[in-house]
Amino acid sequence: MTPVKALGYIGCSISDSKAWEKLMFEVFALQKRNDSPKKTLQYRIDDNHHRLSLYKSSQDKLDYIGWEVETQDELDDFAADLKDKGVKITHADSKLKAERAVMDLYIIEGPDGVQNEIFFGPVQDYVPFNQADGRSGFNTEDLGMGHVVLASANRESTLDWYQNILGLTLSDHIYWDGIEATFMHCNPRHHSLAIMNTVGPMKNGDLGHFMLEANSADDVGRAYDVVEEKKYPVAFTYGKHTNDLTTSFYLYTPSNWLIEYGYGGTLIDDEIWEPKLYNSPKIWGHNHQLPPEANEDAAARK
Ligand SMILES: [Fe+2]
Repeated sequence: MTPVKALGYIGCSISDSKAWEKLMFEVFALQKRNDSPKKTLQYRIDDNHHRLSLYKSSQDKLDYIGWEVETQDELDDFAADLKDKGVKITHADSKLKAERAVMDLYIIEGPDGVQNEIFFGPVQDYVPFNQADGRSGFNTEDLGMGHVVLASANRESTLDWYQNILGLTLSDHIYWDGIEATFMHCNPRHHSLAIMNTVGPMKNGDLGHFMLEANSADDVGRAYDVVEEKKYPVAFTYGKHTNDLTTSFYLYTPSNWLIEYGYGGTLIDDEIWEPKLYNSPKIWGHNHQLPPEANEDAAARK
């Protein structure tokens, strides 16, 4: 089996679409596609048709994670291999492929009920991506969309599934303050997926955060200026990670997960990389801030 090559896209249900639209525009200089399907906000972050889908809903939850493979043959082999292993796999119909904007797609139920999708051939938009506010875009292409962090009470078996079924490779671990997080990669980006234990209110399969990597440190700094000026709720202040050396900050989103925006993540060369265990996620900064009173904060931004 050829491993997946990149995190391609994610989809989430959201209960407050107006707040999400405002956040995406003001902090990340992103606007939803004008042709987004009904009750959906689709966001481009590069030349792909879209990589983030937010579905208007009464709840907030991760709906699916999409993983890209290189060729149709690889996708077909992947599906055949999983069937041989007895993994339940569903071939998407044309309507779903069109909605995801890919040439072909299979759906697998992953650990903790998380829907994983394996796809080939993301639609490239004929209009080049041009981020607003003079921003320099996102570090994607062969590295994929960014990364996601999921919570799991069965970390060992969950890690095992992503490594043995999808073919992800161990990057390293960080254990601190009762939290255990393990990071995995499928291309040189330090991690496309991390699995942490369930802490606080987090339940099995919950999305902890997703991360977008800017092409410029200045983009992240300018976004942080906006966050301070407009009083967006910071979850972790500007800081630098121990393992992937990204400088980033985290915001509370209008949903029950965080979003990380950063720059300068290290790249892994599998020939020389040695997984390590760190005792802190931060070299400096990344100071945790308590969740704000949601209503106060929303009022302050009006
Ligand atoms: Fe992260």
